Amino acid sequence: MFNETYELSNGVIIPKLGLGTWLLDDEQAAQAVRDAVSIGYRHIDTAQAYMNETGVGKGMHSCGVAREELFITTKVAAEAKNYDAVTQSIDESLAKMRLDYIDLMIIHSPQPWSEFREENRYFEENKEVWKAMEDAYKTGKAKAIGLSNFLQDDIENILASYEIKPMVNQILAHVSNTPLELIEFCQKNDILVEAYSPIAHGVILDNGEVKVIADKYGVSVAQLCLRYDIQLGLVVIPKTANPNHMRINADLDFVISDADMETLKNVEAIQNYGEHSFFPVFGGKLK
Ligand SMILES: NC(=O)c1ccc[n+]([C@@H]2O[C@H](COP(=O)([O-])OP(=O)(O)OC[C@H]3O[C@@H](n4cnc5c(N)ncnc54)[C@H](OP(=O)(O)O)[C@@H]3O)[C@@H](O)[C@H]2O)c1
Repeated sequence: MFNETYELSNGVIIPKLGLGTWLLDDEQAAQAVRDAVSIGYRHIDTAQAYMNETGVGKGMHSCGVAREELFITTKVAAEAKNYDAVTQSIDESLAKMRLDYIDLMIIHSPQPWSEFREENRYFEENKEVWKAMEDAYKTGKAKAIGLSNFLQDDIENILASYEIKPMVNQILAHVSNTPLELIEFCQKNDILVEAYSPIAHGVILDNGEVKVIADKYGVSVAQLCLRYDIQLGLVVIPKTANPNHMRINADLDFVISDADMETLKNVEAIQNYGEHSFFPVFGGKLK
């Protein structure tokens, strides 16, 4: 998988497979980045909210591979909803990671987490946030800019007045929970979709129905889920600090049949993400 890439609408090349780092602390993130890069990963996903940008930066600077060969994504905090807060947060991310530029900078959420998917859509604020993102792009602090957790109307709000078009939307997309209409809308608008929690935060691993299909291809459930997202044209960013899992997650050299893709699209939705259900992205609210 390591040589497989997509091209963003501005011509920037992004590896299809990246390493997720949510819930890793600085030390774990630094080691995970070094391990991942030595295995062949070149794309790392972090966020201001993960509190591990310093560790990700340390891992990048000590991994033995040149900065230009790495693709690093970070996310502006969901709570930063005005121009100055966004600009300052981008400068802080650069300082923490000791970088001159970020490859992809995205808005973590259209709403602050405590109001995720609630009535106030922050449309006006997000236009101002987008202006700050555009300026970060124009000044070279970010090579590409985009969105995360944006629904169709959140995206339309940006598309109504952009100067620079968003290049990606990073959203929850995994077997049993694939927002096909939103994906289609993004793809029609030349916005690359990145699938976060591509193996359902681990919750899908013991799903019997999915396991039967994985067995048919002689792969693990994790591999089947990653391949499924790739075949939908999505970037995948599975999280692991386990080098063995990193290797397995990059071994996706098989093709899921059209019939099995249809079956996987219709696997009964996961309702419960276990101990992590309180996170907004899994339907809960962080207070
Ligand atoms: N934009 C957003 O709002 C947002 C939200 C959520 C996540 N994300 C991003 O997406 C990344 C991935 O999502 P996620 O962390 O929620 O979940 P995920 O990648 O779907 O699943 C991670 C879980 O799967 C396990 N795992 C990974 N590879 C495995 C393998 N080959 N075999 C068995 N188990 C395996 C991991 O355990 P081990 O560590 O033991 O391998 C971990 O428990 C995040 O780290 C973050 O970068 C973004």
